Amino acid sequence: MNKTILITGGAGFIGSHVVRLFVNKYPDYKIVNLDKLTYAGNLENLRDVENTDNYIFEKGDIVDESYIKDLFTKYKFDGVIHLAAESHVDRSITNPMEFIMTNVVGTVNLLNAAKNQWKGNEDGKLFYHVSTDEVYGSLGDTGFFLETTSYDPQSPYSSSKASSDHFVRAYGNTYGMPYVISNCSNNYGPNQFPEKLLPLFINNIRNGKSLPVYGDGKFTRDWLYVVDHAIAIDKIYHEGRNAETYNIGGFNEWTNIDLIKILCKQMDIALCKEEGTAQQLITYVKDRPGHDKRYAIDANKLKNELGWEPSLQFEEGLAKTIAWYLENEKWMDNITSGDYQNYYKKQYS
Ligand code: NAD
Ligand code: DAU
Repeated sequence: MNKTILITGGAGFIGSHVVRLFVNKYPDYKIVNLDKLTYAGNLENLRDVENTDNYIFEKGDIVDESYIKDLFTKYKFDGVIHLAAESHVDRSITNPMEFIMTNVVGTVNLLNAAKNQWKGNEDGKLFYHVSTDEVYGSLGDTGFFLETTSYDPQSPYSSSKASSDHFVRAYGNTYGMPYVISNCSNNYGPNQFPEKLLPLFINNIRNGKSLPVYGDGKFTRDWLYVVDHAIAIDKIYHEGRNAETYNIGGFNEWTNIDLIKILCKQMDIALCKEEGTAQQLITYVKDRPGHDKRYAIDANKLKNELGWEPSLQFEEGLAKTIAWYLENEKWMDNITSGDYQNYYKKQYS
């Protein structure tokens, strides 16, 4: 069936994997990738699909209400998969307003445009909002986030994502907007901007730079390979139930320090260094303010209802990830020159 789907934030980390999957798997769909190309957006991530017939790139800002309205008039979208966001917790601590504008105001602009376009003709339409497990707050040593867990966001980033989730549900409830939301745990894999833990540490090890571990390093995250997230989004987009929430996770919890030690071990092997070389770079630094202790997702609803499961074991995914960054040093060098150096100095000095 022909469909025109808007994917926002498609030049970013997760968005680029979602765009690639949809463009290749659904040749009958027209995929429009809308991205502002902030520091985190990079068209290099999509070189392999950029000349495909069913793919169109539009550079634009979701905060620009009239631009978004015109875009919906131009393409008459059947569906939206909304990933565009400011996504880094540390940046949200320094500059919360940018997160409110993009993550909250930008989402509401998209909802308004979709509502006006689909009014009275909602059949077959869908607004898919891609969100995060951070909206649930922080866990103690036990327990898991369920779809029914109360929201308790702790950082400006997670508060802005929680707010956008609430708006999506409010539009479903008030205006009958067809929607689905997924809340996912930490992603890792190719094309992630090196402000996030794994690509930052891979790049630092490659350059013999210290590895800044926040606090005592005993914070826990649940890691999922990014392609598995994209596959889950495809499943939920096509088979998920209207007005439902699906948690997505890796069934794969690690404390930061244990994860970093495995990374160091694999990096030593990949770079043919003596075992223990990378680990010497570990440096404990000041903690992130308000640092969430533990996230852990119960993804059994998605598993039982839609038959989705992560396809990769963690150590295999990590080895693939390391191999990608080492084979794509130019990609890394291009984005870590210029502004990145200023960001790094401010964040870590
Ligand atoms: P990212 O920062 O790598 O990419 C975000 C993309 O959005 C970039 O291409 C950027 O240019 C674009 N963008 C930012 N502001 C925009 C604006 N105003 N208008 C248009 N485009 C804009 O982020 P990511 O890690 O790929 O995350 C994508 C989505 O998934 C986000 O909504 C994030 O909250 C969510 N998420 C991320 C993770 C994770 O581990 N990275 C986990 C769960 C959920
Ligand atoms: O849980 C999903 C979320 O995962 C997404 O919604 C966010 O967009 C994504 O950025 C990620 O948030 P985190 O804050 O968990 O990811 P980050 O890579 O920034 O940090 C992972 C852990 O590593 C966290 O406990 C903080 C720690 N850390 C991070 C950096 C950048 C360090 O110890 N040192 C660092 O330099």
